[in-house]
Amino acid sequence: MRVLCIGAGYVGGPTMAVIAAKCPDVDVVVADIDAGRVRAWQAGEPPIYEPGLREVVRTALGRNLSFTTDVAGSIETADVIFVSVNTPTKTFGEGAGRASDLQYWEATARTILAHAKTDKIVVEKSTLPVRTAEAMARILHSKPNGVSFDVLSNPEFLAEGSAIRDLEHPDRVLIGGEVSERGRRAMDLLAGIYARWVPEDRILRTNVWSSELSKLAANAMLAQRVSSINALSELCEATEADVAEVARAVGMDRRIGPEFLRASVGFGGSCFKKDILNLVYLCEHFGLQAVADYWLGVVRINEHQQQRFARNIVAAMFNTVVGKRIAVLGFAFKADTGDTRESPANFVCRRLVEERARVVVTDPQALDNARRDLADLGDAVAFEPDPMRAVEGAHAFAVLTEWAPYRALDYRAIYRRMEHPAFCFDGRNLLDHRALFEIGFNVYPVGKVPLSHL
Ligand code: NAD
Ligand code: UGA
Repeated sequence: MRVLCIGAGYVGGPTMAVIAAKCPDVDVVVADIDAGRVRAWQAGEPPIYEPGLREVVRTALGRNLSFTTDVAGSIETADVIFVSVNTPTKTFGEGAGRASDLQYWEATARTILAHAKTDKIVVEKSTLPVRTAEAMARILHSKPNGVSFDVLSNPEFLAEGSAIRDLEHPDRVLIGGEVSERGRRAMDLLAGIYARWVPEDRILRTNVWSSELSKLAANAMLAQRVSSINALSELCEATEADVAEVARAVGMDRRIGPEFLRASVGFGGSCFKKDILNLVYLCEHFGLQAVADYWLGVVRINEHQQQRFARNIVAAMFNTVVGKRIAVLGFAFKADTGDTRESPANFVCRRLVEERARVVVTDPQALDNARRDLADLGDAVAFEPDPMRAVEGAHAFAVLTEWAPYRALDYRAIYRRMEHPAFCFDGRNLLDHRALFEIGFNVYPVGKVPLSHL
């Protein structure tokens, strides 16, 4: 069998590498228009940082996994074509700021139509608005050339930083297809690929719309849990409750569960906000304003959490950070990735620069992306790979990504290197706050009483 994936990004690259590694007899080609990205994959040096990814890629590269920029030329020989291109929030025209921008996705559909000469199964891997598969099928069948296409929805649930684990041991694989004999055959064929390593009872078959909506719903509900605990974190700060204790007590209820209850500076990443806004747009389209408002609240609380974190820094430092050096520990939107899309660190750095602080950013994997994201701020931000140098002469440091190595830094030495009074703002509740306080720091966690000597 020959599989093609169009789009070699955070999803296409790792997903196809795992399929190739698990199915040595399936020929897997990944095609992308970004020549730089393709060259990196071809060299066995993934253009994204993801633990374990390089090893999986190298297992299959040159055997049954290859990368190419020849999108058109790869279409004809493929039996199954995954589409894993980006679907960002639209920034222009109707639905700007809410709806999905489907231009990359539609361009792909048209390329498939132009170059397919035999029947294909086309699989939506990208996250798309409900009923997009129908539009895909319409485009694919718009030219009567004797080729027929089955369109399946197979959304991806991997999280960055744990992509390989998530792909190798998924909670479920979701396949949505047409309710017909033909649809069932296409779903069976796709399920057969996953069944090489995923237990059958974890491979779920639904109708196409349920599959598309389940992906948006899963992200919305995960984000909603983070916004729920973050909303409570503000109340904890006002009442001297401790958000970690509250999360533990609440999460021990089996009906609620312990995951995704870590209070933070806010959620980031390329998908939570985008997918909720997409859901909101869909609800509004169907005239369901109350439902739209409910989900929009999840995004609003997230924005509020980021804003109040930045505001708290300024307030704690005697209401001014003008000319003060503030070290930002971590710029990635979460640990174990170099991805900075929608990272709360981006927002916080910008707010601090508006207040005329001198910001120094450090991150073990995301510094290149940080440089690009903050290029417009010029000299107001510096970038330093070594956290010990970043804190040199700083008035404060803020933890914005929960990188494990930050736990093991020598905070006594850091305290000695900083200006005093020295402030710690822990946007991830990563550090031992009592120990930092005893060293001399004034410590401001999320959702806990600050430990201050002032
Ligand atoms: P990405 O931006 O990293 O990768 C998309 C790739 O598609 C890019 O390399 C781009 O060059 C390529 N591309 C765009 N148009 C193309 C075309 N016409 N022909 C060939 N290649 C083209 O995006 P991503 O993070 O991999 O996300 C892809 C999709 O998967 C999105 O819909 C996203 O919502 C969804 N998703 C992402 C994640 C995640 O963790 N990043 C997880 C689950 C689902
Ligand atoms: C998320 C989902 O977890 C994946 O299932 C989904 O496939 C993916 O979106 C997608 O569609 O793109 P991802 O964004 O990579 O994955 O990472 P998460 O682990 O979900 O974290 C998202 C954000 O929430 C991060 O900024 C993280 O730091 C934050 N978060 C998460 C918290 O602040 N607290 C928590 O308890 C959990």
